[in-house]
Amino acid sequence: MNKFTKGLGACMTAIIVASGAMAEPADDNLVINEDIEIVTRTAAPAHLSDAMDEVMSGWLFRGTETRDMERDDFDNPGMIFVEQAEDTWNAADGSEGKSCADCHGASSDMAGVRPVYPKYVEAAGEVRTLEMQINDCRENRMGAEKWKYTGGDMVNMTALLASVSRGMPVDVAIDGPAQSTWEQGKEIYYTRFGQLELSCANCHEDNYGNMIRADHLSQGQINGFPTYRLKNTKLNSAHARFKGCVRDTRAETFNPGSPEFVALELYVGSRGNGLSVEGPSVRN
Ligand code: HEC
Ligand code: HEC
Repeated sequence: MNKFTKGLGACMTAIIVASGAMAEPADDNLVINEDIEIVTRTAAPAHLSDAMDEVMSGWLFRGTETRDMERDDFDNPGMIFVEQAEDTWNAADGSEGKSCADCHGASSDMAGVRPVYPKYVEAAGEVRTLEMQINDCRENRMGAEKWKYTGGDMVNMTALLASVSRGMPVDVAIDGPAQSTWEQGKEIYYTRFGQLELSCANCHEDNYGNMIRADHLSQGQINGFPTYRLKNTKLNSAHARFKGCVRDTRAETFNPGSPEFVALELYVGSRGNGLSVEGPSVRN
């Protein structure tokens, strides 16, 4: 067994092609609209220093054509959904007759919000994702129905909020009141799930760069979320991706929006501290 299959059971060795099928991440730079410079690889945050030296965006592990789609908003199918969310941002809804814009101003005024989420929200006494904050505003400030956690309206809105922060470094806080949630997320990340007995780390820490079936394994970073996937031709939230990955280990999965996935998002987000916000990204 070589170093890329360390600690993996027989099942896994059969899935991950360990016969030297190591494909390097692309040696490429991402500048969006010839304007926004995206940091796609950088020194790993201090809390990861025992595990890896460098953190890398999933963009570097995709093929040339997929990478190219992210260089210009006209070629990025995810931006169509950002435009839809812009309309929603400006439209009044709910019993209070208010729009997001009425309280928050232009969507571009939300630049800097995406990079720090999930975060501990003092008034709520808990760690919250962007989705939780958005639904809190809809329910309690607009008198509107909550959106489904991974539904179209919600994922579109998170894409709008990501897009106005593109190029800014992910900067999720892991200490203070967020620490216990972060520890919980870390524990989930290293827990082996399912019949295949695989943890997130087995694939995304021990085997990134290797091929798994026809897929080039990345570090499983979430700086590019939400992601437009060519596979299902829509935007996908981080929790929907977590769900798919857990299901691939043939395990029962947590639900999107569950406390477990909120904690996992905080932890996975912190593994990408220093990478640029890149959403909506394009992946296969
Ligand atoms: C009636 C006013 C009001 C409306 C309408 C409203 N919000 Fe808010 N929103 C607030 C307040 C107040 C806060 C908490 C204070 C803050 O952080 O700005 C907040 C917080 C947020 C945050 C967290 C911001 C941060 O810096 O952490 C997000 C994201 C957000 N709102 C999104 C939305 C979206 C999307 C809509 C429309 C679907 C919306 N809000 C509608 C008043 C509103
Ligand atoms: C059996 C291996 C395997 C396991 C275990 C696994 N994943 Fe994945 N994951 C993949 C593959 C394959 C992809 C698609 C290629 C890529 O981006 O790595 C992927 C993609 C992702 C992505 C998208 C990255 C991007 O840039 O678009 C995220 C995020 C992710 N995984 C998180 C997780 C988390 C969190 C866990 C643990 C709950 C997990 N994965 C467990 C195989 C795995």
